[in-house]
Amino acid sequence: MNDASPLPLAIHGAAGRLGAAVLQLALGSPGWSVVGATVSARSGLLGSPVEPEGALCYREVLEPTSMPAGAVVLELSRVESLPDHARQAAAEGWPLVVGVTGLDSPAEAALAAAADQIPVLLAPNFSLGIALLKRLAQVAGQALGPEFDGAILDVHHRHKRDAPSGTARALADALEGAGRSVPIVSQRVGEVIGDHTLTFAGPGERLELRHQAEDRVLFARGALAAARFLQGQAPGTYTMDHVLAARGGPATAP
Ligand SMILES: NC(=O)c1ccc[n+]([C@@H]2O[C@H](COP(=O)([O-])OP(=O)(O)OC[C@H]3O[C@@H](n4cnc5c(N)ncnc54)[C@H](OP(=O)(O)O)[C@@H]3O)[C@@H](O)[C@H]2O)c1
Repeated sequence: MNDASPLPLAIHGAAGRLGAAVLQLALGSPGWSVVGATVSARSGLLGSPVEPEGALCYREVLEPTSMPAGAVVLELSRVESLPDHARQAAAEGWPLVVGVTGLDSPAEAALAAAADQIPVLLAPNFSLGIALLKRLAQVAGQALGPEFDGAILDVHHRHKRDAPSGTARALADALEGAGRSVPIVSQRVGEVIGDHTLTFAGPGERLELRHQAEDRVLFARGALAAARFLQGQAPGTYTMDHVLAARGGPATAP
């Protein structure tokens, strides 16, 4: 595939909040060619065209015959469906970007096995701002002494299934790597798209690092950036840190 051709993309969970946002963004951009869009078996969209008068229809599974060479798959459905989707991607050699959060052990095992055969990018948050926040958190965690207490606040809409959020866990893990154990408090309220605040409070001062997602299109943009990054990569596991570094951000964390 040369640089001028659109990148073929398939989306699992194309009718969901995130999947539909990615689908709309990709359909509206000449840089992408949507070649697959799956929905759940109970979806009213099953069998209907993705675009008016378009040939592509919403399906329950991705058909290998409709996936051209170089196609990348985005997993934006549900954790229960992830192991089957990961096994198919590995068997077919499709790079896999995983945006689903709340991964359980079957999902983690399926992704670890898939990463032996294909590139797998795990992104509990597609925001490049969050990738940078993680790095800033590590710097702050290392720089501030034990007299500073750290805490993470994760606020999301009432429909979110997992708590704490994948992003809050990733922030806590990054701090754990910097020798800090930081508790997480989660709130599930209203229609908040996603706020994360890391607070360090010490004697006489308080430092807050905050990221607020203001529009779901931010995640859709990040998902497409992740898919573009992953195409052509070697098998293995990648994160948004790699995408950030490839765009001139700080090198990936150890
Ligand atoms: N990485 C990020 O930046 C980011 C940002 C936002 C959300 N997320 C995560 O992404 C996931 C989806 O979030 P969301 O808000 O879009 O949830 P959502 O609106 O519930 O979307 C999930 C969609 O997947 C569908 N689905 C279920 N089983 C499927 C299957 N086997 N094949 C294809 N589609 C299937 C669901 O259909 P039914 O409703 O019929 O079951 C639903 O339409 C969650 O894990 C969420 O935490 C990640």
